Amino acid sequence: MSDRRPWIVGVTGASGTPYAAAVLRGLLDAGDPVDLVVSRAARLTLLDETGRPFRDGHWRADLAGWLGRDLAGTGDDLRHWPAGDLAAGPSSGSYPARGMVVVPASTAACAGIALGLSKDLLQRAAEVCLKERRRVVLVPRETPVTRGHLEHLIALHDTGAVVLPASPGFYGAGAAATAGQLVDFVAGKALDALGVPHNLFRRWSGQLGEARGGS
Ligand SMILES: Cc1cc2nc3c(=O)[nH]c(=O)nc-3n(C[C@H](O)[C@H](O)[C@H](O)COP(=O)(O)O)c2cc1C
Repeated sequence: MSDRRPWIVGVTGASGTPYAAAVLRGLLDAGDPVDLVVSRAARLTLLDETGRPFRDGHWRADLAGWLGRDLAGTGDDLRHWPAGDLAAGPSSGSYPARGMVVVPASTAACAGIALGLSKDLLQRAAEVCLKERRRVVLVPRETPVTRGHLEHLIALHDTGAVVLPASPGFYGAGAAATAGQLVDFVAGKALDALGVPHNLFRRWSGQLGEARGGS
């Protein structure tokens, strides 16, 4: 029987909402249940990067517009929890979550999760998944970084998280890679880390120059 526990997807206010959209589409395409938490700051980056609002009271319609797909049939396989709701299901270890991906992950969220601040539901849910030894994947986006940023990432790594910087490789699509292909590369690596099948990029075959049509 397949595991029907949801993946928690946390979206923070780091630049990179296209990464979040690609991961969400990938999880929905795989048929996996998703619980979504969007931080307050993420609503600003979403507005800046897509021109779209994200409102708790209209989340399904806003998410459908953002992902560019009809979500009417998703039912309880797609849930949303307000970031300010610290009594929400994912705030407890007894809530049957499968794991969590934070994409993109702000330096603030990485610090908060590393230090156990639980300033909102997103940070609390990540901390809960870590303490319960569930799969946690963080996709930080910042450059350059301070020693403090790096120390938080090391602490997260040592607690069991997969730290997966938003750092696309060009070898799948070549130098003419589109922004969409680079986004899909990062999203695909995040799905790989969760163990979720996808076709977001072409896997390395051992053939140099394949992306340019060489053999
Ligand atoms: C347009 C915009 C872009 C931002 N980009 C980044 C970024 O790439 N990385 C980052 O760590 N913070 C970035 N920030 C700052 C975060 O939004 C800010 O630290 C916020 O407190 C993060 O809160 P959250 O972790 O609760 O979402 C950006 C803010 C704005 C408004």
